[in-house]
Amino acid sequence: MKVIQVGIGNMGNTWLNAVLKSTEVEFAGFVEINDAIAEEQAGKYNLDRSLIFKTLEEAIAKVKADAVIDVTPPRFHSPVAITAMNAGLHVLTEKPFSDTMEAAQAIVRKAQETGLVQMVAQNRRYFPSVQTVRRILQSGEMGRVTAVTVEHYRHMTFSNNFRLHMQYPLIVDMAIHHFDMMRCILGCNPLTVYGRSWNPPWSRFDFDASASVLFEFENKAIVSYNGSWESQGGDTSYNGNWRFDCEKGVLWMRDNQVYRGYPEAWNKDMDAPQEPQDMDYLPYAHQAYLLHEFYEAVTTGKPPITTGADNLYSLGMVFDTIKSFETGSVVRCGVPEV
Ligand SMILES: NC(=O)c1ccc[n+]([C@@H]2O[C@H](COP(=O)([O-])OP(=O)(O)OC[C@H]3O[C@@H](n4cnc5c(N)ncnc54)[C@H](O)[C@@H]3O)[C@@H](O)[C@H]2O)c1
Repeated sequence: MKVIQVGIGNMGNTWLNAVLKSTEVEFAGFVEINDAIAEEQAGKYNLDRSLIFKTLEEAIAKVKADAVIDVTPPRFHSPVAITAMNAGLHVLTEKPFSDTMEAAQAIVRKAQETGLVQMVAQNRRYFPSVQTVRRILQSGEMGRVTAVTVEHYRHMTFSNNFRLHMQYPLIVDMAIHHFDMMRCILGCNPLTVYGRSWNPPWSRFDFDASASVLFEFENKAIVSYNGSWESQGGDTSYNGNWRFDCEKGVLWMRDNQVYRGYPEAWNKDMDAPQEPQDMDYLPYAHQAYLLHEFYEAVTTGKPPITTGADNLYSLGMVFDTIKSFETGSVVRCGVPEV
């Protein structure tokens, strides 16, 4: 399968590496609007400079490709996806799916009209720790999940980056991963959300970089999410630390490892250790998982999990959370009809 990668700077590096290592997918061309980045990346990855174009339209006219991987900032996701699908190309778009719900829905409508594969890169689902927790909870062996507590704290060291100037950077650019992970792990969607956001006085971000959010899910689990990108120490991993309070014990996902504790053990010894759990083996993880799934979807027709239509529910959590910040009210979650 041949792909055009749009946006080859910064996060583009991860996708350049994923495709260059793949035995299933190869590059037909690249699109990059910044000449300095195009030149730097051509040197670093030994890319054919004649295959780096300024616009997707030009790339489509000059090279033969099956699909597009879009690694541009969110406001370009809709024009890139629509241009690609109008030319008959499948699309894999980086998260967040789009900068507005309307733009995301327009992409989903175009995918439905054309029948092309259209996926969103929610790579954090495909960490072994996330799949392990998901498997244990979905097996039912822990009983009902009543509460989930998520902590994500980072001191982000951005300089001259779009995230410093965007609204609700923590929620739109990062929590979209955690919200999507909640749906993946619990296997259902949220019913309501209530949240507060704020910007610490020392923040380098123009808009709120900290938040506290409470979701109620369809299975009645209450999920409490606390995070900041202006933490002054004690960083968690990007995936964050998760605690699942269940009927038959407690499960933790911490630093991408999984631990379990049982009431039987604690009744005997209050200091009983949390038991490390064996991790699920994933033949592909992170971007390699998504790339393989994209390849399979295009070449065999097997539907991917993180389609745009599915991702509207994760993106909806982002916009419903912001609505709650701005109205001070509990917001009923839901996705408008496409
Ligand atoms: N999945 C993850 O873990 C993860 C991590 C980081 C970023 N991202 C996502 O990847 C996307 C890109 O983020 P980034 O940090 O690389 O942004 P960035 O602004 O640092 O880099 C974007 C690149 O795309 C180029 N570009 C911008 N508009 C373009 C256009 N219209 N056509 C061609 N090239 C264009 C820029 O010149 C730059 O090289 C965002 O949606 C971001 O949220 C995902």
